[in-house]
Amino acid sequence: YTEEELYRPRFHFTPKENWMNDPNGLYYLNGSYHMFFQYYPSSTVWGPMHWGHAISSDLIKWKELPIALYPDEKGYIFSGSAVVDVNNTSGFRKGEIAPVIAIFTYHDPKIEKEGKINYQSQGIAYSLDEGLTWTKYTENPVIKNPGIKDFRDPKVFRDTINNQWVLVLAAGNKSMFYRSINLIDWEYLSDFGEGIGAHGGVWECPDFFSLTVDGTDEVKWVLIQSLVSGGPNGGSGTQYFVGDFDGKTFSLDSSFKNDLNLEKVFWIDNGRDNYAGVTWSNIPEADGRKLFLGWMSNWEYAEKVPTHKWRSSMTIPRELILVKTDNHYRIESKPVKEVNKYFSTSIIKANLIIDKEAILANNSEIDFSSLDIKFKIKNITDDTYTFSLYNSIGDSINFGINNKEKNFFLDRTKSGNLSFSDKFAPNISTAIFKESCKNVDVRVLLDKTSIEIFYNNGKTVMTEIFFLQQPIESFSVKSDKFNFEIENLIINQFGINQN
Ligand code: FRU
Repeated sequence: YTEEELYRPRFHFTPKENWMNDPNGLYYLNGSYHMFFQYYPSSTVWGPMHWGHAISSDLIKWKELPIALYPDEKGYIFSGSAVVDVNNTSGFRKGEIAPVIAIFTYHDPKIEKEGKINYQSQGIAYSLDEGLTWTKYTENPVIKNPGIKDFRDPKVFRDTINNQWVLVLAAGNKSMFYRSINLIDWEYLSDFGEGIGAHGGVWECPDFFSLTVDGTDEVKWVLIQSLVSGGPNGGSGTQYFVGDFDGKTFSLDSSFKNDLNLEKVFWIDNGRDNYAGVTWSNIPEADGRKLFLGWMSNWEYAEKVPTHKWRSSMTIPRELILVKTDNHYRIESKPVKEVNKYFSTSIIKANLIIDKEAILANNSEIDFSSLDIKFKIKNITDDTYTFSLYNSIGDSINFGINNKEKNFFLDRTKSGNLSFSDKFAPNISTAIFKESCKNVDVRVLLDKTSIEIFYNNGKTVMTEIFFLQQPIESFSVKSDKFNFEIENLIINQFGINQN
C-alpha cells in the first residue's frame, strides 16, 4: 500500500502537502464555508505559520485554495478568527461587497529570541473579494502585548444585543474579553478562568457564543477553551463552560458552577484527537446551527505521526447543541447532517441477538476505509462490551462500554504503527459515566486513520487517530456475558474522496 492509499482520509480535510494545525477564520458567506488553518508550506513539521485556505459548499467536500496570509516582518500568523463586516463598521469596504475581517495573532520570533515575553499581539487583515485575497492593516497590531507571555488566538463575534464586536483571546491561564465598534480599536473588558476548570497547560484557542437551550427559548453563553496539555486522556484537550454574558463579563451559571465543583471539567470530546476547535461565524439565521471544527491531533505526538507528504486532518464538522436535563447544562455534538448525502452503499441488519463473539460485518460485504456505523446496543448488564475493527495481521481498534468500571473506552494500543511516539498509545482512553448503561446508541465515523464515536446522540464523544499497517477487514463484538441485543445496525459507506 502507498501512504496515500493507507492513510489519506477520504471524507476529512487534509492539506495536499505539508503541515497543518488549528482551524482558523471559519465563516460562511454566499454559499461557501471558508476554512483557514495554521499551515507551514515548507515542511511536515510546525514552522513559521501561514493561514492556509479551503472552501466548501457543504462542509464535507473541500477545495484547497492558495495560502491566504503569509508571515511578515511583524511575525508569524498564528491562530485567529474572521467575521463578515456586513455594516462596514471597519470602513474597509470599497464598492458593494461587505469586507471580511480576519483577526489573528502576530508571533514575533525576533522578540522571542531576545528572551522577552511580549512577542504576541493581535493583528487584522481584510478581504474585499469575500476571502480570496487579503490585505493586512498597515497599523497592526490592533491589540498590543500587555506584558503577558501567552497572549493569542483571538475569536471575534458580533454582539447584536449591545451593538458591538466582542473578542476573546487566551492569555496564559485565563481568557480575556475586549470590545470594539470598528474591529480596529479594542477596549479591554474582563477576564475569566483563573482557578476555574482544567489548567494542565496554557489556555489556547477560545471560542465564545450564545446558544438557545435545545427545545426552549432560554439563551445561555458558552465559552470553549482549549488547553495544550492536561486533556481528558493526556495531552491537548478542549473544555467548555456555560454561563451568562452582560456585554462585559462572562459569569458561570450557578448550576454549572456546582457541576464544575463536583466534576472539575467538562470536555467537548473525551478522545485524544480533537483540539483547538472553534465555530463558524455568519451562519444564516434560517440555518441557525452552531458548527464546530477541530484539529484531529494532539501536540504530544502531532509532529511524529507516520505520514510524510501531509500531516494532520480536521475532525468531521459537528453541530453543537446545548441541552438542559434536570438543571444540568451540557454540550452535545453530532456530525453535520451533510455527511448523509455522501453515502453510497449500505448494509442493514435489523436485530441481532448476540449469544457468542460475533462478526457484525466483514470486507466481503463492505469496504471499511470510510464508514458511518450506527446501532443501538440493548439490554446490557454490568459487563464489558467490546467492539473491534481489525485486520488479518492483528492490528485493531477496540471501543465500547465498560459497565463495571463505568466508562466508554477507546483502545488504540494494538493499532499497528505505534513506534513513532511513546506518547501515542500508552493507555486506553476512557470517558466516565455515573450510572450503569442499559441501552446505548452508538454512531461511529471511520476514515482510514480516524475514528469518531458519538455515544447517545453525542452526549459523549471520543475522537482518535490511528495508523494500521493494513486496512480494516472485519467488525466484531464480544462481551464477558452474552445474550444482548444489537438493534438496527446500519453501515453506510462513503462515496467521496477529497483528493
Ligand atoms: C494551538 C496553537 C495556538 C497557536 C497556534 C500556533 O494549537 O498553539 O495557540 O496560535 O497553535 O500554530
